[in-house]
Amino acid sequence: MPVTPSLNPTTYTITAALPYANGPIHIGHLAGVYIPADIYARYLRNCGKRVLFISGSDEHGVPVTIRAQQEGITPQQVVDKYHAMNQQAFEDFGISFDVFSRTSSTLHYQVATDFFETLYGQGSLEVKDTEQYYDPVQKQFLADRYIRGICPRCAYQDAYGDQCESCGTTLSPEELLQPRSTLSGATLQLRKTRHWYLPLDRHEAWLKQWILEEHREWKTNVYGQCKSWLEQGLQPRAVTRDLAWGIHVPLAEARDKVLYVWFEAPIAYISATQAWAATHGQDWKPFWQSPDAQLIHFVGKDNIVFHCIIFPVILKTYGSFILPTNVPANEFLNLEGKKISTSRNWAVWLHEYLADFTDQQDVLRYVLCINAPENKDSDFSWQDFQAKNNNELVAILGNFVNRTFVLVHKYFGGTVPERSTVTATEHVLANYLQQLPHQVGQAIEQFKFKEGLQLCMNLARAGNKYLAETEPWHLIKSDKERVGTILNVAVQLTANLSILLEPFLPFTSHQLKKMLGMIPSEGTPWTQAGNLGLVQSGAALGAPTLLFEKITDERITAQQQKLHAMNV
Ligand code: 2FM
Ligand code: ZN
Repeated sequence: MPVTPSLNPTTYTITAALPYANGPIHIGHLAGVYIPADIYARYLRNCGKRVLFISGSDEHGVPVTIRAQQEGITPQQVVDKYHAMNQQAFEDFGISFDVFSRTSSTLHYQVATDFFETLYGQGSLEVKDTEQYYDPVQKQFLADRYIRGICPRCAYQDAYGDQCESCGTTLSPEELLQPRSTLSGATLQLRKTRHWYLPLDRHEAWLKQWILEEHREWKTNVYGQCKSWLEQGLQPRAVTRDLAWGIHVPLAEARDKVLYVWFEAPIAYISATQAWAATHGQDWKPFWQSPDAQLIHFVGKDNIVFHCIIFPVILKTYGSFILPTNVPANEFLNLEGKKISTSRNWAVWLHEYLADFTDQQDVLRYVLCINAPENKDSDFSWQDFQAKNNNELVAILGNFVNRTFVLVHKYFGGTVPERSTVTATEHVLANYLQQLPHQVGQAIEQFKFKEGLQLCMNLARAGNKYLAETEPWHLIKSDKERVGTILNVAVQLTANLSILLEPFLPFTSHQLKKMLGMIPSEGTPWTQAGNLGLVQSGAALGAPTLLFEKITDERITAQQQKLHAMNV
């Protein structure tokens, strides 16, 4: 059973994987990393905790240079373009980063360089001369994925340098027959090169103790992957690369090499914190060096090893840093039954969604959360998106809120009536409500975001059931006082929904709070929820405005057609 993390410590350092600045954000990124991280950060803020929610653009690595070649611009122009685009899209989508930094910043260069120099100075890195594949046309050493050749096992002609897609065998580039460059098509040459390695093998013992013994509560998928890595035995991992684009290695003999992107990118969580601290007159150290701080890394499943093994080794070797409390990685989201692919343009891009579905951020947030790949891969389809909007957001949540507001306006001129004739039905509802903030909070603390959102939707269902059973529209003819009580209770339920839904559906929560006159709110909202006294009787309610609207078949068909038309 997962152990609930304690909420006693007041500082939470929450990181969301740095997206590569070589393309736009898509729904896979959102479902896997950014929506869960945002729910967690918003919830903890609502509980009064000290939160720093960190991300930024990952601007180095080969994919950026490839994109620059494709677009005929410089790598810096590529990252400038996508950094700005992604930062804006995240903001418009309500991802509440405290800081969204970038790895091409001067401060990040300084901090990453300091990490390398410190590890090097301590003798914590190993140097090795090896032979690696060189593209004589492009005049560069190649990363494994830019090498193709014949698979030595099954003779497939187009196997990658790290894996054969046909027979599934894991390979190293030297094993390929007739290796060639995917960049130029040239036959590759083996050339001697020198690199600096993080000797992960030296760290196996404490990693085994720390993860396999002390973090049994980590998600099964995360724990399982770590166990498999640790049981296979760790190998030294090069932290330098023969590339021109990146942070240059601070050694006289290696000025033409750069730091491996997976060495320096996680360090950006720290440099981003320092950048934030400098502009906010704060100290960065409590977020990274206080034993009480909780460090939580939200990542996709392909990032697990970097955040559970490699980055912790870097932090521990440097010294004085805390290690992650948890790494709640998700699995992958597919799209209409197929793997999302940036290069094949099989994706729903966030900036396009925001343009096509104006002011409907929460519909996508809802669908991606309720259907998140928390424990296994899941699928997004436009038809399911429409069904979840029409049958759940409109028919359950929107309907309950709308009916409540319409009835208060119709029978009481928009003024919240007195609650005077309470019966057993209301006592049962009050007891149920009292448990709910704790239950939703527990689900969020255990990274079960789907469950948390379901619990909130159940409150809206309970509200609909309450109105259906008490039938205030019939009762109004005979017992207006009792109707006053019923509608007062219904208003209180909508007020509770506005608090409990905030981490999941912040735009809807805000609109509902405005309608309820609960803005500006004070104190720590989460601890105020769970009772029927959130809105005073006599308070004036705003006009009922629809929280959600039905999405037509035409709009869905248009999206499906666009997806298939763009696919290459
Ligand atoms: O997988 C990715 O998209 C990487 N850019 C994530 C980096 S996370 C961190 F280490 F910065
Ligand atoms: Zn093969």
